[in-house]
Amino acid sequence: MPTALLRPVSPRMAECELTHFERQPIDVALAEKQHQDYEDALRYLGCEIVHAPALPDFPDSVFVEDCAVVLDEIAIITLPGADSRKGEIDSVATVLEKYRPLHRIEAPGVLDGGDVLRLGKKIFVGLSSRSNAEAVRQMQNVLKPFDYEVIGVHLTGCLHLKSAVTQVSIDTLLLNSEWVDANLFSNYKIIETHSDEPGAANALLLGDTVIFPLDFPQTALRLLEAGMDIYLVDNSEVIKAEGGVTCCSVVF
Ligand code: GLY
Repeated sequence: MPTALLRPVSPRMAECELTHFERQPIDVALAEKQHQDYEDALRYLGCEIVHAPALPDFPDSVFVEDCAVVLDEIAIITLPGADSRKGEIDSVATVLEKYRPLHRIEAPGVLDGGDVLRLGKKIFVGLSSRSNAEAVRQMQNVLKPFDYEVIGVHLTGCLHLKSAVTQVSIDTLLLNSEWVDANLFSNYKIIETHSDEPGAANALLLGDTVIFPLDFPQTALRLLEAGMDIYLVDNSEVIKAEGGVTCCSVVF
């Protein structure tokens, strides 16, 4: 049974970091309800849920994915690229040390988990405003004994690599080719996001089911037409905070 690590929404979520988005009002009560529905979806799809402690003074702390990269062999505790988020990692390490040996990214490396896309033994890392080549080098060193290849990837126009591309089945990726080069993933079938929905590439694959925001209906239709089994969630408040469905959990 997979485990999903989640953290409650901060009451200060409206003060979140924004990089490519204009600030919009965030309804924290609605965000809490949507987060509960997301947790219920993960449980329904077979996950055991564990919680990291709430961090009410960290507006982005619900985006727990950015704090860790969990593989079968090891968990990498990141060093988030935004200074406001560096205090989120220790409480995640305290939970994950019960499950995996830990390795920490050290400065001058910076890494957000949202930049890390694992496809089998290949790990793609977005060279974004949050993650750098030094973190890629550290990951290469620590993961080489486990036969992972770690590859830095250039991005344009989005926050994280997983804003631009995620896996939606064993052989298929959902991708916005304005933001990342689809040729990097030539071993995979590609479903493009709808041109009216550039932010729609972030989906969370659990088993054979894709958790996907109902906020992007035209891209959802493309997934359905490709035969995907999708579980729709209302993700409006997380999207305003420049987050996505992968950001709100670490599944391992
Ligand atoms: N608001 C999401 C992030 O910037 O980390």
